[in-house]
Amino acid sequence: MCGIVGYIGTREKKSLLLHGLKELEYRGYDSAGLAVLEQEELHVFRATGKLKNLEHACKDFVSEGFGVAIGHTRWATHGKPTEINAHPHTATFSSVIHNGIIENYQEIKQNLMDKNVVFCSQTDTEVIVHLFEENLKETSHTLEAFKKTIHSLKGAYAILLITQEAPKGIYYAKQGSPLVIGQGPDGIYFSSSDAPLIGYATHVCYLEDGAIGFMDNDSFSSLSDIKTLNSNRLYAQKEGFRYFMEKEIYEQHKVLLETMMGRMDEEEVYFEEINDDFFTDIQRITICACGTSYHAALSASYLFERIAKIKCNVAIASEWRYKEPIVEHDELFIVVSQSGETADTLEALKNIKTQGLKTLAICNVDNSSIVREADTTLLTRAGIEKGVASTKAFATQMMVLWMLALYIGQKKETISKEESKKERAIMLRAIEAAKVLPQTHEKIRRLSKRYLHGHGFFFIGRDIFYPLALEGALKLKEISYLHAEGYPSGDMKHGPIALADSNLFTIALMPRNLLYDKVKSNVEELAARDATICAISSLELEVADDIIILKEHSSYMEEFFEMMVVLQLFALEVSIRLGNDVDMPRNLAKSVTVE
Ligand code: M6R
Repeated sequence: MCGIVGYIGTREKKSLLLHGLKELEYRGYDSAGLAVLEQEELHVFRATGKLKNLEHACKDFVSEGFGVAIGHTRWATHGKPTEINAHPHTATFSSVIHNGIIENYQEIKQNLMDKNVVFCSQTDTEVIVHLFEENLKETSHTLEAFKKTIHSLKGAYAILLITQEAPKGIYYAKQGSPLVIGQGPDGIYFSSSDAPLIGYATHVCYLEDGAIGFMDNDSFSSLSDIKTLNSNRLYAQKEGFRYFMEKEIYEQHKVLLETMMGRMDEEEVYFEEINDDFFTDIQRITICACGTSYHAALSASYLFERIAKIKCNVAIASEWRYKEPIVEHDELFIVVSQSGETADTLEALKNIKTQGLKTLAICNVDNSSIVREADTTLLTRAGIEKGVASTKAFATQMMVLWMLALYIGQKKETISKEESKKERAIMLRAIEAAKVLPQTHEKIRRLSKRYLHGHGFFFIGRDIFYPLALEGALKLKEISYLHAEGYPSGDMKHGPIALADSNLFTIALMPRNLLYDKVKSNVEELAARDATICAISSLELEVADDIIILKEHSSYMEEFFEMMVVLQLFALEVSIRLGNDVDMPRNLAKSVTVE
């Protein structure tokens, strides 16, 4: 995810910004840049790749005396990770950096191009600085021009803008993306998280959505809710959570909004990345992936067939390669991968390309090997995921795949306008359902102490809740090292039920909106064999030993996203009680680049 830093004061600005950006490296990025405005001159430097490339690009520059400065690490969302697309973006006398997504940038860009404004990059961000300078033609009041600019933007943003027209300070705006302003003895600091401010600022203000203004050396005290800065760096990176995995579970509803942004409006789901005729000849889909990404793929196969009415086959990448699979010329091959570097998935993709199929990657890391190999990519925009146990990557993969199912349904007219509208409304509610409720987390934390022994866990569900059960079992085994398996609940009677006794823990996924009674019968069969039952549902269940109560949703996909969070928290809390290393479980690597 992109990182922002800014500074107003007399310290040497280049090294200060580079230091701040280094503190944000853990969030992941593919290019970086900085701009310094001092003695009325604007100096801008940008580079692709690691920060050492940026350091090299500005090695001969030293800033002296009072000035203002902004720096940025970019995680590509609109446009490739090139130097031209790196921030800051500069017009004639102003530079801007931005985190988030401007949904209506194309409309703004077109209006500006009609006025002969020339654009250099493919980014959404560049419109901000041009629009600001254009607005300044109509008013001499820079703050007014800035506010007018911000009010034209739709989407999510944290923005810093510097301009030769107001060289004593920095314009800022925040909506949906984090932005912190700090004050220390040597000046004013900005950042997208408080880690870079440690050691510099003593007091901070975490801006609220809608914040917009101009900050100079004298304005900090006018901010409301100023706090003393906690000086523990790792704590700051984890944003107060105990583990990165926990932080990533909690931020899912925010990243899901980013996943969706600029891809949906009142009328439809759309993907700028996909050509209009991409699906014209496609009659079937194969999705190939590993681990959690495979579970997202398997879940999506229900949606592809149900919403888009397109045949969908799902394959584990390590099995696909040597199977000598028969493929059809009208088949689309989709690969799903968080890292974009998983060897099994990459090789399956390369292999299929030799057979001439169209390919589409759903990936979190732009410019990764899988993205470079695929014909087209939909980025999931989860931001860097540090916990080895994947959480927000799964959530965002699910959202992209669900949107894709709807997109294909629209293209193939297998879904009516009315149904499509309903589905989009459910998507927005599903994001809300992915928000962690403190009372649910506390309930799971308390309940987890009863699930630390036993000879194993069955996670059971039906339909799309079966792959979610697989994912719940995988989460638990990865970080607790307890034996857990996912099963379709209807399949228990064909063998697994032989293991049932009081020391078998069954985690039953029981959505009220999908096959509730069927799952209930399967759970009763297990309870009759004395299995210990923990139900996850919004409905009470007499035979359950424990129940984690969900909200009363009106669709099964909202229940899916809430249950996903419950399963992740359950694994987290069991693992913490067992004293395991949640973020770096034994024997596992975040990116599996070997076969
Ligand atoms: O980067 P990928 O999505 O391709 O990785 C695939 C699996 O290795 C990954 O999902 C793995 O199963 C995770 N540790 C699950 O939490």
